[in-house]
Amino acid sequence: MKSSSTKYGSVAVTIHWLSAVAILAMLGSGFRAASLTDSAAKEAILMFHVTLGLVILVLTLLRLFWWWRVDQKPKPVAGDPAWQTLSAKGIYVLFYLVILGMVASGIGTIALSGAGSILFGADVGPLPNFSEELPRVPHGLGARLMVALFMLHAGAALYHHFIKKDGLIWRMWLGSDDKGTGL
Ligand code: HEM
Repeated sequence: MKSSSTKYGSVAVTIHWLSAVAILAMLGSGFRAASLTDSAAKEAILMFHVTLGLVILVLTLLRLFWWWRVDQKPKPVAGDPAWQTLSAKGIYVLFYLVILGMVASGIGTIALSGAGSILFGADVGPLPNFSEELPRVPHGLGARLMVALFMLHAGAALYHHFIKKDGLIWRMWLGSDDKGTGL
């Protein structure tokens, strides 16, 4: 379950891929909701968006706890230039900050607008205009920063896989086998 010096363990791998899929679904559903004018369709998407957002919060807290108390990360990839190792670390930290900031600003937007009782309570009626709420501003900016981080992170993984061909991606996969990468 725990990581070794060369490979992430099954708990870290599972949280990583679940979070990746969930965050992509959050970006898709968030931008879709924001583009909709039909209140019923927006409501359905936002119910999904808010619920999955809370699942991401749980996954992220679990992940932070796992690294803080239980597990240790594998060593950085040998031979990578220092700036790449440092920027990879910076991107991980930014991911945590942006995820937590998105969840907080999302909850703030719902709470201040009173939409919670329309989405999950007994109230019926059109959704409020979210753009009138202050936390909606950092939520929109954070979403764009998240897209940029995602592209940098996935771009770096693809660079290792297809250009350096060092099999780095298998460090973040289930199983004890290093697929002959020697990393
Ligand atoms: C990792 C977590 C999250 C991500 C990646 C995310 C992503 C997004 C994106 C991309 C948008 C559209 C932004 C825009 O077009 O400017 C959005 C809008 C929104 N999100 Fe989130 N979100 C997250 C968490 C949450 C949570 C936890 C809640 C509520 C509890 C929430 C509530 C909302 C609301 C109310 C909107 C506004 C929709 C509208 O303007 O019609 N989000 N989100």
